[in-house]
Amino acid sequence: MDVNVAPPLGMLAELTHRCPLHCPYCSNPVELVGRRDELTTDQWLDVLDQGRDIGVLQVHLSGGEPLARRDLPALVTRASDLGCYVNLVTSGLGLTAERMDDLVDRGLAHVQLSVQGPDAVRADRIAGTRAHSHKLTAAALVKDRDLPLTVNVVLHKANHDVGALIALAERMGADRLELANTQYYGWALRNREALMPTPEQLAEAEPVVRAASERLRGTMEIVYVVADYYEPYPKPCMYGWGSRQLTVAPNGDVLPCPAASVIETLRIENVLSRPLREIWYDSESFNAYRGEEWMSEPCRTCDRRAVDFGGCRCQAFQLLGDASATDPVCSRSPDRQVVDLLLEPPSQTPEFVMRGPAVVR
Ligand code: SF4
Ligand code: FES
Repeated sequence: MDVNVAPPLGMLAELTHRCPLHCPYCSNPVELVGRRDELTTDQWLDVLDQGRDIGVLQVHLSGGEPLARRDLPALVTRASDLGCYVNLVTSGLGLTAERMDDLVDRGLAHVQLSVQGPDAVRADRIAGTRAHSHKLTAAALVKDRDLPLTVNVVLHKANHDVGALIALAERMGADRLELANTQYYGWALRNREALMPTPEQLAEAEPVVRAASERLRGTMEIVYVVADYYEPYPKPCMYGWGSRQLTVAPNGDVLPCPAASVIETLRIENVLSRPLREIWYDSESFNAYRGEEWMSEPCRTCDRRAVDFGGCRCQAFQLLGDASATDPVCSRSPDRQVVDLLLEPPSQTPEFVMRGPAVVR
């Protein structure tokens, strides 16, 4: 075990890939895990125990839609009894007053609610189903119980109306609003042309976000995640590979980042065949891009390498076929032209392809 590796702070537990929504920006893999391959309740309880044992303090119960798992209450109880801060990442569909009361009694500490658009017409079109009204109800259920609420919106060409989204989050009583421009992983990658915001949309958004952040200081925190293709430097993805958080997929695959299954060259381990401690500290996958040893030029000697860690490994693999390359978003990358080409406006914006249901194996 490498003593220089810090324990994980957080675990993203993707309980299921089943989801009532069909968002075209979904970053889950194109091939979803079917219900039959999901970990059982006992296996998830064991994963939570193992996670706490190696230091996990924050558990994010996510999916798909975690409310689709009937054992969600038992998992909340276990994570909370272990002393973890328990966050539910949900679409809100399926959340009732009874379920909310029960989850709060069991120790749920925070809810992160996804919102697809500023109004029902736009939001339901993006969700591919009638979802918006359920979200308003879900937000009220959370706030009625005095739980902190984060509203999360994935931004793209069809909903880039940040003023209206901020107003909606205020009406919902959100304590925190995440406005995150789409990251093109998994299903989202096939919709990149349709989803990519225009430079005009991005230029309009930033002063609106800045003014609202100022006005709402102390009431609602706004986190704006930029559209990184347009930036000169990449995002500090995961704050460094294998440094703070691990993801457990519905079938028990343990991933250094939620999108890591896109890296076809990575040998991914499963918690059913190896203890979480060994996977975190000793596995090839978690050690592949930890620290700086793996870096080549220009990252290896770059003055920003401790700032952005060379960018995103998944993006390097998806755009260049080499997960150890400098993220091509970086203006210092010899491959930046690959990203510049993607920024050229399409002659016609294609329709996005809605996310299909999980294949049941
Ligand atoms: Fe970051 Fe590498 Fe670009 Fe330097 S060369 S700014 S470390 S991605
Ligand atoms: Fe996987 Fe960035 S999304 S490293």
